[in-house]
Order: sequence, then structure tokens, then C-alpha cells
Amino acid sequence: MKTLENRIILITGATDGLGKKLSLDLAARGAELVLHGRSPEKEKAAAREIRDATGNSKLACYNADFSSLAAVRDFSENIRADCKQVDVLINNAGIGPGSSKVQRELSKDGHELRFAVNYLAHFLLTHRLLPLLGRSGSARIVNVASGAQQAIDFDNVILKRGYDGRRAYSQSKLAMVMFTFDLAEDLRESAIAVNCLHPATLMPTNMVLDTDYFKTTVDSVGKGADAVEYLAVSPEIEGVSGKYFEGRQRAKAHAQAYDSQARQKLRTLSNQLTE
Ligand SMILES: NC(=O)c1ccc[n+]([C@@H]2O[C@H](COP(=O)([O-])OP(=O)(O)OC[C@H]3O[C@@H](n4cnc5c(N)ncnc54)[C@H](OP(=O)(O)O)[C@@H]3O)[C@@H](O)[C@H]2O)c1
Repeated sequence: MKTLENRIILITGATDGLGKKLSLDLAARGAELVLHGRSPEKEKAAAREIRDATGNSKLACYNADFSSLAAVRDFSENIRADCKQVDVLINNAGIGPGSSKVQRELSKDGHELRFAVNYLAHFLLTHRLLPLLGRSGSARIVNVASGAQQAIDFDNVILKRGYDGRRAYSQSKLAMVMFTFDLAEDLRESAIAVNCLHPATLMPTNMVLDTDYFKTTVDSVGKGADAVEYLAVSPEIEGVSGKYFEGRQRAKAHAQAYDSQARQKLRTLSNQLTE
């Protein structure tokens, strides 16, 4: 297994909250980081903060608004042009449930926004980066999901009926779990492992602080970052793939994640939406 100093780790949503804390921790341990954000200003500020705090200047920054699949395609093309390999991909960027007063929002491609940003963008990005992950020799993908999971109604995936921000968020997070299980099967014969997790509960990040659905916070951002870091780089889970964790512990996800027909439906839909 490569030392951390020799690993290239790509983190989506590295400009704030969990992604930024994770970036700080991994930079402090000497890893080479590829940071993704959607705001160039926040991206620069995060990179400066990480460099100043850790002395690690092995940082590259990229921008892409994940509410646009074209932007995700451009981002992955840029990574493929610039990076010889990716050892760890951490699919972390996301938007929370939002305000209970906000009605259904759409992505630039006309898809339900949370499904598009939290799941579909990462589905596309991951598939586009598989060749780079394949060059690592022992790569890992970590999908940051959540304990908030709600079954997907395949007759109403994009929530034209019965929209609710929590439902939209929870469906997008279950989609990340289903994607993880499905992809792990595809990658069984490869040297790429993929796992997913609920990092920690109600950490005080923007997505939790900016919603009226939650009235409190529970865990620290550090606790969540520790769990993601564990799946991303710990030797203890070498060879583990296709699993769901809560923090550092193996756990059981929503029943729909274990339904292979539902996963097949999600995969077919995702392929159609991203082709
Ligand atoms: N907070 C919790 O308690 C909790 C619990 C379970 C799971 N999670 C998961 O943890 C992950 C990180 O969330 P967080 O709590 O750290 O929230 P956060 O502080 O709001 O950070 C979200 C990150 O995603 C980026 N992002 C949002 N919309 C984007 C878009 N359209 N395109 C590209 N990037 C976008 C944000 O960019 P900006 O900086 O520009 O806003 C930010 O970097 C999410 O996947 C979330 O579902 C969080």
C-alpha cells in the first residue's frame, strides 16, 4: 500500500464544512490533494487556509457547479488531462434539505436539484474518473451518503409530486448508497474499492445551520471527517468494498439498497440521464 505522501486524493465540495475539514486533515498528513469547489473565491480561500495551516502546498483547485452535467463533464476532462492518476476519490459535495418553504428546485439540466447535485453529478464524475483510479493500483472511492435515506419511488424519482426538501435529500443519499453497492459489484475484479457512509449526525455545517428542518446540532465536523478519512486511507479496511458504514462502524442501510432490481432501475435511469 502506498504511503499517504504518495497518494493523490480528490475531494468534491472541499470549500466548506466536512470537505474542508477533511482536506485540512489529509493535507496535514502529507497527501497530495485535488480540491473541488463551485466558487473560485471560496476555493482560493480554502486552499490558502490549508496551505497556511499545514505547510502542504501539494494542492490543485478546480471549479464545477454540480447542478450542471456539462460542468461535471468539463471538470472530469480537466482532471483527466492534468492528473496521471487518482488514488482516492471522495464524493462529498452536496446540498441539504433547504428551507421547508422552498418548493422543488431544478438543476441546469431540468432534474430535481438534490438528486442532480448530490447523486447524479457524482455518478457521472466517478464513471469518468474510473480510468484514472484504475491506474492507482489500489484505489478507493468514498461516497458520502447519510443516515437520512428514503426509498425512491421509480414512478416519481424527480419528485414532480409530493416534493419535500427532506425527502429529496434522503432519496439522493439513498441513491449514493445504491450506487456504491452496484459499482462495487462492477469493480469486483479490479483494484478499486468503493464504500459509503453516514459520516456523523447533524454536524454544524452550512447545510444543517441553513435549514429550518433541524433545530439542533449533534456531532462535531471533526468526528465526521475522521470517519471519512478512515474509509479513504486507513489500512484497516484494505480489501473492503461495497459496504455502508455509520461513522467507522459497518451498518445496515435502507432496505431498498439491497434490492438488486431497484438498483438496476436506478442505474438504467442514471445512464439515460447522463449519456
Ligand atoms: N452536516 C451533516 O450533519 C451531515 C450528515 C450526514 C451527511 N452529510 C453529508 O456530508 C457532505 C458534506 O456536507 P457538509 O455538511 O459539509 O455541508 P456544507 O458545509 O454545506 O458543504 C457542502 C459542500 O458542497 C458544495 N456544494 C454545494 N452545492 C454544490 C454544487 N451545486 N456544485 C458543487 N459543489 C456544491 C459546497 O460548496 P460551497 O462552499 O460553495 O457552498 C460545499 O463545499 C454532504 O454530502 C452531506 O450530505 C452531512
